[in-house]
Amino acid sequence: MSYTEHMAKKPIVVGNWKMELSHKAALELVRALKKLLRGVDIIGDVVVCPSHVSLPEVADMLKRLESISVGAQNVHWEEKGAWTGEVSVVQLKPFVEWCIVGHSEQRAITGETDEQVLQKANLLVHHGIAPIVCVGESAQERDDDKTVERIESFMQVFLPNMDRSSLTKLVMCYEPIWAISSHREDPMPDPQGISEIAMLMRKLVAREYDQDIAERLLVIYGGSVNRQNASDYVQEPGIDGALVGGGSLHPREFVEIIKNVQETWE
Ligand code: PGA
Repeated sequence: MSYTEHMAKKPIVVGNWKMELSHKAALELVRALKKLLRGVDIIGDVVVCPSHVSLPEVADMLKRLESISVGAQNVHWEEKGAWTGEVSVVQLKPFVEWCIVGHSEQRAITGETDEQVLQKANLLVHHGIAPIVCVGESAQERDDDKTVERIESFMQVFLPNMDRSSLTKLVMCYEPIWAISSHREDPMPDPQGISEIAMLMRKLVAREYDQDIAERLLVIYGGSVNRQNASDYVQEPGIDGALVGGGSLHPREFVEIIKNVQETWE
C-alpha cells in the first residue's frame, strides 16, 4: 500500500537507514526483509528509506511486493536548477512513494528551516509523494520546558500553508532530538508524554481546520524505537506508528518491530 488518503487509519512503520549502509548492504537488507516478511499479513504501511543512490535498485526489488514501499530521506525544495549535489522531487518520483522531510539531522547539517520543510512537503504532495514530516525539541528546549512551544511554532508555520486535503496525504513524526539513538544519553521518553504531543498536534490541526481532519492525521513517534518498546508507544492514544533508525538496519529486529506495532494496533 502507499500513497492513499487515510480514510480508515492504519499504522505505519518507517525504516530510516540514514547513511549507515553501503549500496550492497542495502540490497542485502532488502533481500532479508523480503524473506522474513513472506507470508506475513501486513496491515497499514511499511516504508524503507535508503540513501538516494540505492533508491532505483531497491524500488525495483520491491516493485512487486505490496507490503513494503520505498521512501527517500530528503529532497530539495526546488523542482530543478543549479543546485550542485542536491536531488529533486522530479528525480525521486519514479522510485519513491514517501519522503522524509525536516529530520533533525538534516536540519542540523544544512540549517533547514521550518519554512523550507513546509516548501518541501507542499512540493512532494504536489508530485504525489507522501511527506513524512519530522519535528521535535532539542535536549535544551526540553530542559527549558519549551517542547510545546517548539511544536506550536512549527505548526504555526506549517498548518496555515498546507491544504486541508494535504493533511490526509502526509505523516507527522514527533521525534524528540534527544531521544535519537545515535546521541541519546537520557532515558527513553515517557510514552504518555509522547502521546500528549501527538494529541497537541491534533488539537492544533482541529483548531486550524476541523476535528475530522485532526483525527485522520497520522502521527508517529521516532527515537530509539526497538522491539521491546515499540508497543509501549503505539498503544498510547494518538500514536499511529514509528520512525525507526538503528532498529531498521537489522532485518529481524525491524520485522519484530513491525509485528509488535501491528499486534498492538489490532
Ligand atoms: P533511531 O533513529 O531509531 O536510531 O533513534 C531514528 C531517526 O532519527 O530517524
